[in-house]
Amino acid sequence: MLVDQRNRTLRDLRISVTDQCNLRCRYCMPKEIFDNNFSFLDKEELLSFEEIVSVAKACHKVSGLKKLRITGGEPLLRKGLPALIEQLYNETQIEDIAMTTNGILLPKHAAALKEAGLKRVAVSLDSLSDDRFQAITGRTMKVEHVLNGIEAAQAAGLAVKVNMVVKKGMNEEDILPMAEFFRGKDVTLRYIEYMDVGNSNGWKWDHVISKKEIISMIGAEYPLVEVPPSHHGETASRYAYEDGSGEIGVISSVSDAFCNSCNRARLTADGQLLTCLFSTKGTDLKKVVRDEPQNLAGVVSKLWTLRDDNYSEERVAADAANKNKQKLEMHRVGG
Ligand code: GTP
Ligand code: 5AD
Ligand code: SF4
Ligand code: SF4
Repeated sequence: MLVDQRNRTLRDLRISVTDQCNLRCRYCMPKEIFDNNFSFLDKEELLSFEEIVSVAKACHKVSGLKKLRITGGEPLLRKGLPALIEQLYNETQIEDIAMTTNGILLPKHAAALKEAGLKRVAVSLDSLSDDRFQAITGRTMKVEHVLNGIEAAQAAGLAVKVNMVVKKGMNEEDILPMAEFFRGKDVTLRYIEYMDVGNSNGWKWDHVISKKEIISMIGAEYPLVEVPPSHHGETASRYAYEDGSGEIGVISSVSDAFCNSCNRARLTADGQLLTCLFSTKGTDLKKVVRDEPQNLAGVVSKLWTLRDDNYSEERVAADAANKNKQKLEMHRVGG
């Protein structure tokens, strides 16, 4: 079995299909930096669907992937995604194909995505207040647009999780209302500790609200019981409402890192394979897939064998060491 230097398997491939987004979340793509002058990837730099499928097949061949996740930027800005999902499924037979999206374009695309083989979506939503939502996302879209996307996904038969990034001074007042709103609606709400991804979001330790704080805040209103992970290496710690009205999760990359079971690789839209969310550079698979496709599996296998990443477990040291280090930005890495 293929394992890395810390004995971790490769289970989950996250595939970014574009670095562009129709929102400008302050913690991801602050609009002062990602403005009209910002240069996103050119169309020619993107992997084609066929090239993406070749990489997924190579990863699957060396490791037996269990999950594929389509990410961005905002993945639904890439044209023709149902065709990619269909090809991925036909060529790999991997059942668990998911997508992380801001939900705005789901009303238009949910049915075709489901038809193509998508099983589930994770929709990002950080507030139920239009004022805060607009302050966070830097755009004029309303909460209602995201809620319509969630409804469309459910109507199409997709399983839905909602991802809420929690940042002190940004949206702590939404922690409880979000739990109240989504309980009983067959949506798993997951709180995400604010992370120091990229170099643009001005991350500070004081901005983080920890898993412990979040759980005690919700548990005080709605008693919770811990639930075991659905598989080894799951990102979220799971908790069920004692009254049976569903479950929530907390992704505690900062206060309680989960690198020791991290089984994810990330493919950027221009074909870099990253072995950590906090990577400073990747391995150029675009060159391999274009010039020597017969070597893809070998390159992936070697890369994974050498992998030693554990950024979140070493964040204190890394925080100091990273002062001059350029991490890739979240919109390129895909979250
Ligand atoms: P499930 O398959 O439903 O468990 O989804 P997921 O949590 O793997 O993916 P999703 O895109 O919904 O990610 C939710 C949050 O977890 C995002 O903020 C990601 O950036 C974060 N996340 C996912 N994988 C990792 C990881 O390996 N390390 C860290 N630090 N954060 C991660
Ligand atoms: N910290 C935590 N989560 C983040 N995301 C984007 N930037 C950050 C950050 N700095 C989340 C998005 C999305 C997922 C892919 O990552 O909100 O839900
Ligand atoms: Fe876009 Fe998601 Fe980043 Fe927000 S967090 S700017 S929705 S990619
Ligand atoms: Fe995996 Fe890197 Fe996240 Fe740790 S910080 S869980 S190694 S992606």
